[in-house]
Amino acid sequence: ATRIVDTISALRGILAERRAGGASVALVPTMGALHDGHFALVRRAHELADVVVVSIFVNPLQFGAGEDLDRYPRTLDADVAALERLGVELVFAPSAAEMYPTGPVSTLVTAGEVGALYEGASRPGHFDGMLTVVSKLFHIAQPDVAVFGQKDAQQVFLVERMVRDLDLPLRIEIVPTVREADGLALSSRNRYLSADDRRAALALSESLRAAERAAADGVAEALAEADAAFGAHDVQPDYLVIVDPETFLPVADDATGRAIVVVAARVGTTRLIDNSAITLG
Ligand code: PAJ
Repeated sequence: ATRIVDTISALRGILAERRAGGASVALVPTMGALHDGHFALVRRAHELADVVVVSIFVNPLQFGAGEDLDRYPRTLDADVAALERLGVELVFAPSAAEMYPTGPVSTLVTAGEVGALYEGASRPGHFDGMLTVVSKLFHIAQPDVAVFGQKDAQQVFLVERMVRDLDLPLRIEIVPTVREADGLALSSRNRYLSADDRRAALALSESLRAAERAAADGVAEALAEADAAFGAHDVQPDYLVIVDPETFLPVADDATGRAIVVVAARVGTTRLIDNSAITLG
């Protein structure tokens, strides 16, 4: 049966015992409201380690003033039932007081220049808060491997760079984005979409498909085609950028080779993000 622990010391105690018995540990950090995207990460984690720990923590440090911290969906019972069916051994679901006993922490992991771009431009401090909690979770669980989704490409880039920059002793595993049949990337926030929003939300995945098709013709063509897909849905992208996978900075106009298209838009009251790998010709 799945064990739910809500204290750092309880989790550390159980994991120390399992590790002493020779077990390897995989961590899947989440904010709950779990869906098939999260479950794909859990399945991958089971392939990679003996013990799977899923953390469920809506991290206040990565939400800005006026963002959806208070209305972020919290569905712990359903989450645990689903993780039980997937054979997850441990769920770590701490309170905010357990993670931040003194309130806001004074020591932060900072995301640097890339942390201020794209998602970071709309959400100041978001990536510092994300990296700080991820770093805390790594130190709490001390996993051999941690599993993240490509859905959050900028998050993946920053977590991988943190691991390199700070010599963190674990491996990062990335799982491809899980999508609905029509292309919409699964997200805990999709439940806020009205029927009209749900149709308009296809602007994101369709713009990525358009960019993929036009990528052989270069950066300007790919961006123009992606933008046209937004126009067709009467949705305005918040950003639509082609970035270099090595630096996550915008590519030059004449760039060729592998790149990532990153996109965000507000649909109704809900902010959605998506991304796709392309090869520029
Ligand atoms: P959350 O949004 O709950 O996502 C948890 C993990 O699930 C992330 O690695 C995310 O990329 C992955 N994920 C979400 N939707 C996915 C999809 N459609 N396909 C594949 N993977 C998907 O990301 C966070 O939480 C937080 O920032 C966290 C890392 C937990 C730190 O607080």
